[in-house]
Amino acid sequence: MDRLQEARTMAISALREPPPAVQLLSPLDYILSDHFRQRTLCAVLDKMAEAAGFDRELIEAVLDFLKSEFGLHVIDEEEDLFPLMRRRAMSEDAIDEVLGELSLEHASDRVDADRIVEGLAGALEANGAGFPAPQFARLLKRFAAKERRHLIVENAIIMPLARARLTDDDLRNLGRRMAARRGIDYPEKKHAV
Ligand SMILES: [Fe+2]
Ligand SMILES: [Fe+2]
Repeated sequence: MDRLQEARTMAISALREPPPAVQLLSPLDYILSDHFRQRTLCAVLDKMAEAAGFDRELIEAVLDFLKSEFGLHVIDEEEDLFPLMRRRAMSEDAIDEVLGELSLEHASDRVDADRIVEGLAGALEANGAGFPAPQFARLLKRFAAKERRHLIVENAIIMPLARARLTDDDLRNLGRRMAARRGIDYPEKKHAV
């Protein structure tokens, strides 16, 4: 398998395979794994925008990811992680403004993500004729660039602060809620017999 093929196969499995359920025991790691998957998404979208050509399997993987997992992750942050951060942050953390900006980005990225879903579904129907149109390629690149910046801020500022401030109880509740949102059982820690 050449390197390009290998990168493509790895990208498809990153998009298709959620982190293992056991990682919900350390939900911040689960969130970081999702960030890694989103970075993969950005790389795939950039490539899609740059090269003419139609790759049905890859497009289907992107489409499914944007329709399900991408949205779940944003809800994890908006409904659980960010409210916990607001509750636990110390005043010197000065985190309110950053969280506010990230939330605005979540809203505007959702709009772009929906347009990308629509465009990719259309491309599948048209069997890739003329894919990607120049305007659609610009949308893919813009979304990838914005999303990369968003991930940098979350990984550099939010995640280390979450590790420092959230309590064990917070983390358990966060993991339970993320599990429920995905319809999977929370992995109870096994006790030694
Ligand atoms: Fe995130
Ligand atoms: Fe986010």
